[in-house]
Amino acid sequence: MSAITSADAVPVSSKAALNVAIIGTGVIGAAWATGFLAAGHTVTAFDPADGADERLRKQVSNFGAEADACTTTVLDNLTFAPSLAEAVANADFVQENGPERLEVKQSMLAEIDAAAPEAAVIASSTSGFSPSQLNALASKAPGRIVVGHPFNPAHLVPLVEVVPSTGTSAEVIERAMETYRAIGKKPILVRAELPGHVANRLQAAMWQEAYSLVDRGVVSVADIDTAISYGPGLRWAILGPLAQQSLSGGAGGMRHVLDHLGPPQEVWMHDLKQVHLDEDLKEKLISGVDEELEDRDPTVLTKQRDDMLLEVIALKRKYGELP
Ligand SMILES: NC(=O)c1ccc[n+]([C@@H]2O[C@H](COP(=O)([O-])OP(=O)(O)OC[C@H]3O[C@@H](n4cnc5c(N)ncnc54)[C@H](O)[C@@H]3O)[C@@H](O)[C@H]2O)c1
Repeated sequence: MSAITSADAVPVSSKAALNVAIIGTGVIGAAWATGFLAAGHTVTAFDPADGADERLRKQVSNFGAEADACTTTVLDNLTFAPSLAEAVANADFVQENGPERLEVKQSMLAEIDAAAPEAAVIASSTSGFSPSQLNALASKAPGRIVVGHPFNPAHLVPLVEVVPSTGTSAEVIERAMETYRAIGKKPILVRAELPGHVANRLQAAMWQEAYSLVDRGVVSVADIDTAISYGPGLRWAILGPLAQQSLSGGAGGMRHVLDHLGPPQEVWMHDLKQVHLDEDLKEKLISGVDEELEDRDPTVLTKQRDDMLLEVIALKRKYGELP
């Protein structure tokens, strides 16, 4: 019996506990299962892969321990169902985490929609597809299918992007947002269906310029990483880039920054280059990262990253709710 909870989760009374179905129990499904169990919900999981049940239990224990989860919740609240339809039959909330292939997701979500109670909210962890693409084959209540996109390592990082379709009601949106908040996540509502949602688009904007600077020989791959992880990245973990920018304006705040630095900033923005990931550029990026991480064991590095992430999250909690 493994005891787990997330420090930011609001412990639920047994009356408020939801029946949550986790469909697809790979890396992301296991992270969601950990979060929902930690908050006191009941989880019913389904994944057709051989040995998935045992792997999920092990992964939930590991994630729970890593997330420094403590008290109340136990693996006894986790059931593995023999079919997708049985897993969702009594669900209040479904989180789908199947393979990132449109036709697979569409048929999984149509099956979930058909078998789940009409009042259930259905969220997909998809990194790239829009809810209107995902719900194309669903016929019972397709409007309750939304994107609920987590960020890796999903058992630690609080962000969830909620993307509704045009057919999603305000009530479904609020239930999705509230369900995530109640398990200690930090959901944002994305008001348009865009490829890559929001956080990955922001990353893509930065990767684009990073790749271009490496391609043009301006700096090395290691220099790019230093420029972020020892520079603005340190501040971004504490305050987002816009709140952070307003602090640069002192008493004048954002108005002063934009009046003063906006014009040169616009020159930099207009000078940013588009890149094409051809073989030559890929080779530069791969050899650059290989050189940067030459003496590093990726398993050790991942563990160090996650340990430090936990400390940063704990520090944010200690200093109170920042924007
Ligand atoms: N890995 C990431 O960094 C990340 C981050 C955010 C979101 N996502 C999204 O989460 C989803 C899952 O990604 P992952 O990294 O966990 O992949 P994964 O390969 O680890 O897991 C996918 C799981 O789906 C199962 N599966 C296959 N067919 C199924 C079916 N018909 N019904 C139920 N389960 C089925 C597989 O057996 C496997 O266990 C994807 O949509 C991905 O885009 C991934």
